Amino acid sequence: MCGIVGYIGNSDVVEILVNGLNTLKYRGYDSAGVALFDENKIKVYKAVGKLENLKDKLSTVKSEIKNPFMGIGHIRWATHGKANEVNAHPHTSTTSDIVIVHNGIIENFKELREELIKKGCVFKSETDTEVVAHLISEEYKNTKNLKEAVKNALPQLKGAYALCIMSINEPDNIVCVRKNAPLIIGVGENENIIASDIPAIISLTSNIIYLNDDEIAVVKKDSVSIENLDGTIIPCKIVKMFVETDAISKMGYKHYMLKEIHEQPNIVRNLLNGRIIDVNSSVELPEIKISKDTLKNLSKVQIIACGTSLHAGQIGKYLIEDFAGVSVEVEPASEYIYRKNTTDENSLVIAISQSGETADTITAVKQAKGKGAYIVVITNRPDSNITRYADSVLNVNAGIEVSVAATKSYTAQLLTLYLFAIYLAEIKGENLDKLSDLKRELLSIPTKMEEILTTEGDIEKKSEQLSKYKNFVYIGRGVNLPTAMEGALKLKEISYINANAYPAGELKHGPIALLDENMPVVSVLIPGHISYDKTISNCEEAKARNAKLITVTSSNDEKLSKLFDVIIKIPEVSDILSPLLSVIPFQLLAYHISNFLGKDVDQPRNLAKSVTVE
Ligand code: M6R
Repeated sequence: MCGIVGYIGNSDVVEILVNGLNTLKYRGYDSAGVALFDENKIKVYKAVGKLENLKDKLSTVKSEIKNPFMGIGHIRWATHGKANEVNAHPHTSTTSDIVIVHNGIIENFKELREELIKKGCVFKSETDTEVVAHLISEEYKNTKNLKEAVKNALPQLKGAYALCIMSINEPDNIVCVRKNAPLIIGVGENENIIASDIPAIISLTSNIIYLNDDEIAVVKKDSVSIENLDGTIIPCKIVKMFVETDAISKMGYKHYMLKEIHEQPNIVRNLLNGRIIDVNSSVELPEIKISKDTLKNLSKVQIIACGTSLHAGQIGKYLIEDFAGVSVEVEPASEYIYRKNTTDENSLVIAISQSGETADTITAVKQAKGKGAYIVVITNRPDSNITRYADSVLNVNAGIEVSVAATKSYTAQLLTLYLFAIYLAEIKGENLDKLSDLKRELLSIPTKMEEILTTEGDIEKKSEQLSKYKNFVYIGRGVNLPTAMEGALKLKEISYINANAYPAGELKHGPIALLDENMPVVSVLIPGHISYDKTISNCEEAKARNAKLITVTSSNDEKLSKLFDVIIKIPEVSDILSPLLSVIPFQLLAYHISNFLGKDVDQPRNLAKSVTVE
């Protein structure tokens, strides 16, 4: 949530800050601002709404901006106080000697605010962040040194932060620090850049320093020095990063979401490569560092995640129970952390998070680790915060996902769960007779995904017809219940249409009361499992209440065309592997309905890509 950029050097500071924020739009987008160190003054410009509004503002004040040498910028997702100009970052101290941008939450901001007001500080905004500017300013009065002032202020803060700070008295450095929120420094030639995520940096440099919690960096044009709170100097470890320039380009697609949907076959293909070398040999997962003996003797598995990652976890439960015969509990991380759970040293906790920054999931993992559980983290960002607590990290390798609605990271998480479930089954010696066939079929999935994507035009036409409805019910059974839930989530996230998912068998226990000709029922139907016929019966029940019926199915049964108003075909697939395919039409339906309704597909209202608050 929220994006930060800081720059020091001889290039165009405004352009670098704005371009950097542009690549971080997925982290928040309700207001934005920059502070420029220009003509020995700190000039602050802010605008509400999309980054374009800030760009417009900066172009109208162009003549005021002379030759800034450094600056900090921020794109916000409001947590404390409305999305307005006053609450937008950067925030300044009373005398404007200190200016800061902040990601995270200062939990004790109310107490600090009261104390600072007593000291004479004048607050302008409703944010938690502003206290930090005042606090550092107060400390500066004693230290006359920004780094030292920051060091004195930090122990007074409770919560999470990534901060970039400038002082009017120090025209040649930006100070930055982090705790439980990401911050990296890009090291260039006579210029340095600070950011909350890689996309903001890659156009300038591929040399990165990953800052750790409570490390304070003083970033000058030609140097970076880091120390921790007790003054110990930390060597700057510069890492050469792989530049994923394609990931932050739309590659000709209208939206990132559509591009990311189309990337899925290759992501799955690459993930399979090297994992299933021969269908008769064991799955290769060298990243799992937990001993085979431990895995054999697990008492239970718990999966914790949020949102789309939670849906992947719900499918993971079916897979691990079905293949490896170990009992699995799945729980939203936000629920797990506030109850007395049964995690212990014989538990394996699998945390799934695309971003690796989700506060609920990180807190849950910390708790589970505290109870001695083994932790496997499944993430798309192996450099993220959550991986610090992991015994093993499974990188889903989907590439940077820009669209707020998760698509490619979901199928990559699913595939990773299939591989892990098979790996566990092989270690435990369970179901060995059927695993080879399963692996063979897994290898055919990327091509089948491509086949679905060739039918996009047809799904687009159907989406247009469906976009007139204001409410949808999604139903599924067994391994495809989470698919129905994911389909409903995708639709509501990006089109703001009310869509609720239910186990198909639950329809008759209440939700059926909602059904009439204005409430389409969307189902998943995969032959080869008892749930197929049962789901058809539930669809019949819905039809009897005049609901329009839509199905995503691999069935060739011609009788379905009599029952269903809209049929979206996917290739033949076994029930257990079908979630890898059945979700794609749902992603495309949601995408095209949202696009048809003219919604902001990649940056839906009220959402942020990384939810770093509980
Ligand atoms: O980064 P994470 O996977 O931990 O994020 C979890 C959810 O916030 C995320 O999946 C959210 O539901 C997405 N907007 C789904 O499209």
